[in-house]
Amino acid sequence: MRTTAFIRSTAIRAAAIAALAVAPTVLAGDPPPQYAASCGACHAVGVAGAPATGNAEAWAPRMEKGMEALVASVRNGLNAMPPGGLCNSCSDEDYAALITYMATAQ
Ligand code: HEC
Repeated sequence: MRTTAFIRSTAIRAAAIAALAVAPTVLAGDPPPQYAASCGACHAVGVAGAPATGNAEAWAPRMEKGMEALVASVRNGLNAMPPGGLCNSCSDEDYAALITYMATAQ
């Protein structure tokens, strides 16, 4: 099972990288491409205690943990947040970009 999931996520990641190569540059302030289909489902409005996107105050105590710890929280899941945060094809860099986007006042 795990192997199948790994192969699938690797394939998706390769496809995502290929797509990124031709995608136009994302404008500053725009959400990363994975946001709407994953993190945004909960963080857009703060479902089940999720720190809401753009609420810098809610994010401040989280950011104090450091980016590495936050990326680990997403990878492993945290309470109501499922492991991977619904983006199993995301790399650690993708997670960091998504976190930075959500933690920054919009
Ligand atoms: C199913 C809902 C859900 C989705 C989808 C989701 N989150 Fe979360 N997230 C939460 C909740 C709820 C919390 C608060 C967990 C807690 O502290 O109890 C949280 C907390 C966090 C934290 C703080 C972790 C910490 O250690 O304090 C980060 C960072 C985070 N989410 C990033 C993400 C990213 C990046 C994505 C998309 C890839 C994502 N989340 C998708 C529900 C979600």
